[in-house]
Amino acid sequence: MNEKPYYFAYEKRYQAVYEAGFSRWGHSPDDAILYETLKNWVETNDLQGKKVAEFACGEGACGVILSELGCIYTGFDISPSAVKKAKESLAPYPNASVWVLDMVKEKAPDAPYDAALDCMGLHMLITDSDRNAYLKNACAVLKENVPMLFFRESYRKDAYEGEVSSFEHWKRISGEDYDTPMKRTSRDGIDCYIPLLAARAKTEKGYREEMSKAGFDVEDFVPVDINEQCAFSATVFVRKAAKCRC
Ligand SMILES: C[S@@+](CC[C@H](N)C(=O)[O-])C[C@H]1O[C@@H](n2cnc3c(N)ncnc32)[C@H](O)[C@@H]1O
Repeated sequence: MNEKPYYFAYEKRYQAVYEAGFSRWGHSPDDAILYETLKNWVETNDLQGKKVAEFACGEGACGVILSELGCIYTGFDISPSAVKKAKESLAPYPNASVWVLDMVKEKAPDAPYDAALDCMGLHMLITDSDRNAYLKNACAVLKENVPMLFFRESYRKDAYEGEVSSFEHWKRISGEDYDTPMKRTSRDGIDCYIPLLAARAKTEKGYREEMSKAGFDVEDFVPVDINEQCAFSATVFVRKAAKCRC
């Protein structure tokens, strides 16, 4: 049997919310903090006119911002519904493209890239092996010494620091209910009943360790103010290590 991995669950969520009438689920290009963070990152790293890959791009909000800032953008996501939405949003930008890709199991085509971005994607991966496989895949398609930005990833000072070997293991550790539908309301007041999706928070030490293991140097770790996208999160600025052998 060809069963989908646990991290494919987002596809069902996108389908459910669009069916209910939501115009989008994830980040919007007019998120002021997202915009400012990307603008500073692009300027600081001189990324205008350069190739930027985004993993777990969702509906393409960051793609719109990066395209407006002059980057050559390629987005990847495992969810076909999100990719369809992202393609619609990015249609006005000739230097932008979006593809379906499983970032755990596949490396991005058309490498190398001059930079990469992950906006609330890494925290959707629960097991240590999936997280490490993804980070290594991302690192491998980057040029040496270039930046990657992890924006608003779930962060808790008291997050579980042990190993997680499977999704079942995580369910036992977290005790969360990922089955019962709960009411969620869109920005324009539409209701929809959907279950919670699993996301794994890490401590600062946990993020630093897994980034170094995959071949990145951590340049900054910035806890983020409470926000409606991810209540307790941090933004992590990394750079592919100069002597990385990935
Ligand atoms: C919290 S959403 C963030 C979406 C978007 N970056 C945003 O901020 O609006 C997480 C995204 O990760 C994607 N995702 C989860 N596992 C993935 C995988 N293995 N490969 C690619 N995308 C994945 C989901 O489909 C979903 O679009």
